[in-house]
Amino acid sequence: MLKSLLKTVFYRLGFSITKLRPAVAAGAVGLDQSAGRVMSMIHAESPYQNFPLADYPEDLHGWGSQSPAFDQLLARLKPARIIEVGTWKGGSAIHMAKVAQKLGLAPEIICVDTWLGAVEFWTDQKDPERYLSLKCRNGYPTVYYQFVANVMHQKCEALITPFPQTATIGALWFRRYGIKAGLIYIDGSHEEDDVYADLVSYWDLVLPGGILVGDDWGWDGVRLAATRFAGEQGLSITHLADKWYLEKASS
Ligand SMILES: C[S@@+](CC[C@H](N)C(=O)[O-])C[C@H]1O[C@@H](n2cnc3c(N)ncnc32)[C@H](O)[C@@H]1O
Repeated sequence: MLKSLLKTVFYRLGFSITKLRPAVAAGAVGLDQSAGRVMSMIHAESPYQNFPLADYPEDLHGWGSQSPAFDQLLARLKPARIIEVGTWKGGSAIHMAKVAQKLGLAPEIICVDTWLGAVEFWTDQKDPERYLSLKCRNGYPTVYYQFVANVMHQKCEALITPFPQTATIGALWFRRYGIKAGLIYIDGSHEEDDVYADLVSYWDLVLPGGILVGDDWGWDGVRLAATRFAGEQGLSITHLADKWYLEKASS
């Protein structure tokens, strides 16, 4: 009875007492390179091992990937760990990796994406940037492999960790292992309820002094969700180049 009650309480707090594992060092904003890397916790073998790179010429088409906002946020925060929700072919993750390298940083950039597209990717079978770029094989998208190839073409394997999951399950996993990040980029589904859910899930994973940055303020779903969440939390929304962000107070 007591055990079952404790289990329920721990579960609600994001833990499983039967499978409690040591949390990875949470990292920190700033040049704290003690943050443990999570690649080997997600992948039993490297996703880059034995990859048929020659089959996938580089194709880095994306949206808002090269924003100067990333350069400014990385220079300011010097994060040891970055979480990106919504990666597609890797444009923004690779850009952040390159910016980090120029700054002499080596963050782990964990990319959470199903690589199955968002709703607008499935509404026009003639759209070369969305539906056709999913590159369905036997009815199932293969764009993940284009992302892996792009990371390898750009030689960013050491910094970029794919996490092929839904935003929701990704957040649960980070929470279970106590993994937080100095910078979190939200660019997944742009539907209001989904964006709001991503903000609720990922805001808790931002380190004190860190930033949650989002794309596509011009989308109604993004703007409505961000405004609602910021209002509820008493946070200000700052606009930087084509991005918007929320800052977590330093503890
Ligand atoms: C706009 S694209 C990301 C663009 C990318 N940041 C870039 O630089 O080009 C949105 C991505 O979010 C992913 N996505 C949509 N809903 C998701 C969800 N619920 N969980 C995980 N990924 C999701 C899609 O598969 C797609 O790759």
